[in-house]
Amino acid sequence: MYENWEELENSIQNCQKCKLCQNRQNIVLGQGNKEAKLMFIGEGPGADEDIQGLPFVGKAGQLMNKAFRGLGIDRNEVYITNIVKCRPPANRVPEEDEALACLDYLRSQVMLIKPKIIVLLGSTALKNILGKEYGITSSRGNWIEQKGILYMPTWHPAALLRDESKKIEFWKDLKEVAKKYNEINVK
Ligand code: URA
Repeated sequence: MYENWEELENSIQNCQKCKLCQNRQNIVLGQGNKEAKLMFIGEGPGADEDIQGLPFVGKAGQLMNKAFRGLGIDRNEVYITNIVKCRPPANRVPEEDEALACLDYLRSQVMLIKPKIIVLLGSTALKNILGKEYGITSSRGNWIEQKGILYMPTWHPAALLRDESKKIEFWKDLKEVAKKYNEINVK
């Protein structure tokens, strides 16, 4: 675990903990408010993210931006990151050893940010954070509380691009998140 952001950012700079380092252009650590009460965790950088070094800036990111606008949430007030910080080849799902090698970075991010709510975008985020026994189809839309953090699993935005019908559920889940987030912000 990394005690502070400086330690974390220095340690990840030339990270070679897994094979994803071989083809990356940039490490995508995360973006946003380091004191956010609301955090989003995706799967891993895609081509656009790899080029820019920022999470969710491609097609899936545009969908997220649209969702943020609809919810009245400023993207800069939340924190966005991924399970793995380097792009898997051809955007494949991160392998177990890759996710595990990267987990210390994510754990440290959560420890330093101390979010109240974490949105798990898709199956990879759900299984790596809460456990393999969770399935996205049955878990999405339901709050899961662990160690004082409220988790909301929902569809990954890329899944909506493949299957339009998931948009309604995704929107419903995010509206639930926004409601809870507003309650927390008022307190
Ligand atoms: N998909 C993800 O899971 N993360 C990103 O940053 C971009 C696309």
